[in-house]
Amino acid sequence: MQIVESPSAMHVWSAEQRSLGQRIGLVPTMGALHEGHLGLIAEARRHCDVVVVSIFVNPLQFNRSDDFEGYPRPRSDDIEQCRAHGVDAIYAPTVAEMYPSGFDTHVEPGAVAEGLEGAGRPGHFRGVATVVTKLCNAVRPDVAVFGEKDYQQLQIICRLVTDLDLPVQILPGAIIRDPDGVALSSRNAYLSPAQRRAAPALIKALRRAADRLAEG
Ligand code: PAF
Repeated sequence: MQIVESPSAMHVWSAEQRSLGQRIGLVPTMGALHEGHLGLIAEARRHCDVVVVSIFVNPLQFNRSDDFEGYPRPRSDDIEQCRAHGVDAIYAPTVAEMYPSGFDTHVEPGAVAEGLEGAGRPGHFRGVATVVTKLCNAVRPDVAVFGEKDYQQLQIICRLVTDLDLPVQILPGAIIRDPDGVALSSRNAYLSPAQRRAAPALIKALRRAADRLAEG
């Protein structure tokens, strides 16, 4: 498994794979990998010959610097998980490689980024759209897999690749849940024991609402 740390080195790796006729799948992540990410890797594998997992904690999508700095970065565990699950390359650029001094261009998503999470986290989806564009330009994948857990993000990425003519197929990856229904997320590590005990109320309420709607 290769660990690639700069956009130029990523271009070389990906050009070599394409010259060998390999179909490339990308799973963009911010690391702290869990079963949910492993599901996305398996989905990419179903559609591609080689799988790249990007691990990059993207400062542009954080509203608060303490949130960015405190975000979990278990690098050696992540590398081991990728190795154990047959990932072909990890793309883990540094912040300086991604956003060198003078960096000044962003991708601004439209109406689909308004409301819901966009309302509570100003600038968040602009940061996501910018980094996803850069990751796709570096890896040049045939397919990229994004989890349905971040449903608004998935819709924004679909719009982005259509609007900007990015030559990549976006595939949704199913939500993986704990047995009590809570969706797996790297951020679940932030929940206190009391919050974690309360969390299943969300999925219970959503399921109850769905049942009520179905009943008219
Ligand atoms: O969903 C995430 O983990 C991030 O928003 C993504 C898509 C990797 C961009 O940084």
